[in-house]
Amino acid sequence: MNMQKDDRSERRALEAVEHHHADMITRLKALVAALIHAVEAHDPAAEVNAREVLVEWCETELIPHALAEEGPLYKRPGKTEQGRLLVEGMLAEHRVIVGLVDELRRAQGVSAAVAAGAVQHIFALHLDKENRLLMPFIALSPELSLADAVEGLHELVGEAHIHSDYRTKPAI
Ligand SMILES: [Fe+2]
Ligand SMILES: [Fe+2]
Repeated sequence: MNMQKDDRSERRALEAVEHHHADMITRLKALVAALIHAVEAHDPAAEVNAREVLVEWCETELIPHALAEEGPLYKRPGKTEQGRLLVEGMLAEHRVIVGLVDELRRAQGVSAAVAAGAVQHIFALHLDKENRLLMPFIALSPELSLADAVEGLHELVGEAHIHSDYRTKPAI
């Protein structure tokens, strides 16, 4: 039970993660589009470059984001009766995304474009569930706190928000 939970802090935490998700999908779409374009243009040098940039982004942004979520953001609701199945489904999607990134590392040509497109669409679907189902569930559950779950995790809220304070300052 978190005695300090307040609605404004929960809303700010939700907005911070939503904002970071929006930045992530924008970047991912641009990187995937560059790879597809290189494959369609039959430009092997551009393809290798686009695939490397995309894989690196997945390794340094996408997968660390998923791993950070598997801490408090998923663990606490995963122990509740109402949240357990949703969290199980979300974890399964993380595994699919990690598997696709692995496939992408080894793929070439059309196979690389197909794997990249799959990462993009599954991640888009996944973050929509986080935004619309998981995080509102946490924010609205009296025994859970979204502000607590994301505190200090730049992988979840982005660098811009890491030093901002979600918590409502006490009224003086
Ligand atoms: Fe996730
Ligand atoms: Fe996420």
